[in-house]
Amino acid sequence: MLLDLKSFFSKFKKWLFASITALCIWLWLPDLWSQKLPSLMSEELLRDKIRSHIFPPAFSLPYERKFAEFGKKLFVDSRLSVNEKVSCATCHNPGKSFTDGRPTAMGVALTERNTPTLVNIAMNSWFFSDGRADSLTAQALGPWLDPKEQGLSMEQLAAKIVTFHLNTYTALYGPIENGVLKAIQEGGDHSITPSGPSVNLLPPSLRIYGIATMGTFSALDHILKLAGQGARSPQDQFAMLSAGLNASDDSKPLVTEQDLLTPRHDNRQLDAAIRAVITNSAGAVEAYERSILSTQSPFDHFAERLTRTKTIQEAFDASFSQDEFEGLNLFMGKGNCDLCHSGPNFTNSQFHNIGLPWNSDIDYKKLPAGRAQGVLAIKDHPFGCQTPHVVKARADNRLSNLEQCAEVEFLKLDGLESMNAFKTPTLRNLKLTAPYMHDGRFESLEEVINHYSSLPDKPAIGHREESLQELNLTKKEKNQLIKFLLSLESKIESL
Ligand code: HEC
Ligand code: HEC
Repeated sequence: MLLDLKSFFSKFKKWLFASITALCIWLWLPDLWSQKLPSLMSEELLRDKIRSHIFPPAFSLPYERKFAEFGKKLFVDSRLSVNEKVSCATCHNPGKSFTDGRPTAMGVALTERNTPTLVNIAMNSWFFSDGRADSLTAQALGPWLDPKEQGLSMEQLAAKIVTFHLNTYTALYGPIENGVLKAIQEGGDHSITPSGPSVNLLPPSLRIYGIATMGTFSALDHILKLAGQGARSPQDQFAMLSAGLNASDDSKPLVTEQDLLTPRHDNRQLDAAIRAVITNSAGAVEAYERSILSTQSPFDHFAERLTRTKTIQEAFDASFSQDEFEGLNLFMGKGNCDLCHSGPNFTNSQFHNIGLPWNSDIDYKKLPAGRAQGVLAIKDHPFGCQTPHVVKARADNRLSNLEQCAEVEFLKLDGLESMNAFKTPTLRNLKLTAPYMHDGRFESLEEVINHYSSLPDKPAIGHREESLQELNLTKKEKNQLIKFLLSLESKIESL
């Protein structure tokens, strides 16, 4: 009997031990399961990838403070617009991570593009979604002189700057001779006489490619109809539309950027003085923009801690833990997002066709040729990075030289892959920068992720990049990916 009891207890102990062990494993396993890395990526590779997104210590971009302070004044000055109501900050509102919350921007008139954030903007090589400006100095002249944004002519812009900011201007760039100053100030009265549409058409190979790859039949039908009315080839019609020219009513002259940029007088000394004023001022705006940084997000802190911890979990904190990490895993692994959203600013500053389909909101007149059109605009940009006034403005403002400037003369003008390709945007501060994409078509990050997950339909024109494959993400994975994206939120530092 005693023996029996003994053996019973010893059996019971064994059973108890086995049960507790099983219970522990059962409780512990799911945790272990959820922490496992995607099978294709070792922890070492993942750590390397994360490291490639870390800013160098005490990161900043060089600029000279006195110029940046002048640039900031110009940035918020709404007098520098044709109706005196629109400044850069109207659309690039610092409280919204330098965006405006609108699908497409509203300046003097409604534009066709979503306002991008300006955080870490000076880390980019090309500017605008089609990269049609090769420096921030050339870029800043865009909105001032854009008929739909601030709507000034060169003469008007220079006149306003030397009227409203004369003391600051001359303190920074030296005095302007009296006669010239008077002439610049008077130049502001020039009204603009449109000379007709500027023509910057796609090369023939791209026109054929554009027509051949048009996403929807209804869009193609529309082009064919317009071509018929104007007695043009469909290819020419397509090229005109992608250059932003509504060829069906080209009897009515448009005021174009080219019109605003064409001098209204033949005094060459005055023209040079005007160009110097506006490029110096744009250089000052660039100096200010170089101060706008966003580098201190929960992800940045996690990535930095991870360089010092043995396990990944040790680097977690309240704002970056398991879910954000799973999202990061998807971003760098299965999602392959960092192929394009690479480096500390989560962009390679290059152009890609991610296959955004045509939708009923897109006007046929706004054919998105993207980078294919952008390279054409850069080639003969009157304020390109190699033009003497821009070179001088940049040197005066002690801005670093641009590597991409050397690339300009080698840009390929008929690269099929650049048709409908847009610049990879940064993914920082996404909570504040909605809606998304160059045309502001997606209101939420859910919609963006759904696009990458299911890649519906064909792109408007051209071909979606082969590197993008349907991800078929589960609801949980989508949420984790979004949590990771939102961990890139950081306070903004600027002058
Ligand atoms: C009417 C609203 C509006 C105004 C005013 C405006 N912007 Fe913009 N900005 C935009 C839009 C829209 C884009 C994108 C255009 C595109 O990609 O084609 C843009 C693009 C930019 C970019 C390029 C960003 C990138 O990622 O490539 C910079 C830099 C910029 N603006 C700075 C300025 C400065 C400086 C001013 C004032 C001189 C200014 N903007 C005035 C709406 C505006
Ligand atoms: C082939 C390059 C490429 C890959 C891969 C890629 N993206 Fe993008 N992404 C882009 C480009 C280009 C745009 C801008 C397209 C436009 O404006 O029309 C963009 C836009 C976005 C935007 C909108 C940002 C804004 O401010 O408008 C988000 C968010 C985004 N991508 C997240 C992701 C995620 C998440 C993944 C992985 C699932 C991913 N991307 C993979 C190139 C890429």
